[in-house]
Amino acid sequence: MNLNKFLDTISNPIQDDIHRFRAELIQSLSSPFGLINKVIKYVTFKKGKQLRPRLTLLSARICGEPTEMTYKAAALVEILHVATLLHDDVVDESDIRRGLPTIKRIWNNKIAVLIGDYMFSKALSNIIHLKDFDALHVLSSAATRLSEGEIFQIEKAIKKDMTEESYMKMVSDKTASLFNASCKLGAITTTDVQEKRDALGRFGEKLGIAFQIRDDIFDIMGASVKVGKPTKFDLKKNKLTLPMIHMFEVMQKGEIQMVKRQLNRHFRRKEVEGIRKMIHQYGGLSYAEDRMRTLSDEAITELEIFPDSEVKNSMIKILEFNLSRTY
Ligand code: IPE
Ligand code: IPE
Ligand code: MG
Ligand code: MG
Repeated sequence: MNLNKFLDTISNPIQDDIHRFRAELIQSLSSPFGLINKVIKYVTFKKGKQLRPRLTLLSARICGEPTEMTYKAAALVEILHVATLLHDDVVDESDIRRGLPTIKRIWNNKIAVLIGDYMFSKALSNIIHLKDFDALHVLSSAATRLSEGEIFQIEKAIKKDMTEESYMKMVSDKTASLFNASCKLGAITTTDVQEKRDALGRFGEKLGIAFQIRDDIFDIMGASVKVGKPTKFDLKKNKLTLPMIHMFEVMQKGEIQMVKRQLNRHFRRKEVEGIRKMIHQYGGLSYAEDRMRTLSDEAITELEIFPDSEVKNSMIKILEFNLSRTY
């Protein structure tokens, strides 16, 4: 299914909610300063999938009737997400995002870092407007985990000694934490039932891990044009992805050293192809796909406490879409 069609399908039960969330997003990012406005306009022009706010809206709807707080929360998670992308593209030295040149490419690293900070601070001040301590707790812990995950990744990239266990921890922190928060926040704005809030949080966490595993598979297999960001793993040398980690776990010591040496320097296209082939041979891709499938099954189980509905269906569709998405 093409991306827009998929997004329309899953958003059917939240169409009006999405408009309200977008209005909130624009309003909360406005600034009287010229440069800030210019850069923010640029980053919000190409929207991205807006999956996290959609999850907030769906999670709110699965528990009750969305409120003003729901829209504020949805805007907040998207702002946090975009802020992390600005910083991430500096860290990863990426020149392309959502099919367009990155901020650091058009302006420079300083602007990307500062506008990222500006967006973080906007998110922070918006939390206050939610007037809810549980929401405050969920978001602040997600923000902490996010940066811990990104920093841990850099730490591991230097030594290239990531195990599957530490990869899972890193991915949970840098990506799943915000998916978890997006879902849980939606629930917090519409229900007091802790069991529902927690189940949706866990749903988001599992989906988030599966989402990052899929994203990491792009890094090895994807065609950059479709994904809209760099996909060759030479461009993301600081990344150790699950398919590669699995390969290292089953490979002979000598071979591991050879591959790691290649990864630590700029290598030629032929070598990239060689490593990609090796990952295939060692079953790295199918292993990662299996992990993704198991996580998705676990996530569906979290929704069992909710009766069947169009909203629930949309949430399940997001999981299914992730298993096969190519962007
Ligand atoms: C990209 O997230 C960053 C990851 C966690 C892999 P998305 O794929 O949701 O980014 P956009 O917002 O749709 O561009
Ligand atoms: C995504 O990380 C950004 C965060 C989750 C903070 P990656 O570096 O793995 O993702 P892309 O491929 O650049 O979107
Ligand atoms: Mg990146
Ligand atoms: Mg990164």
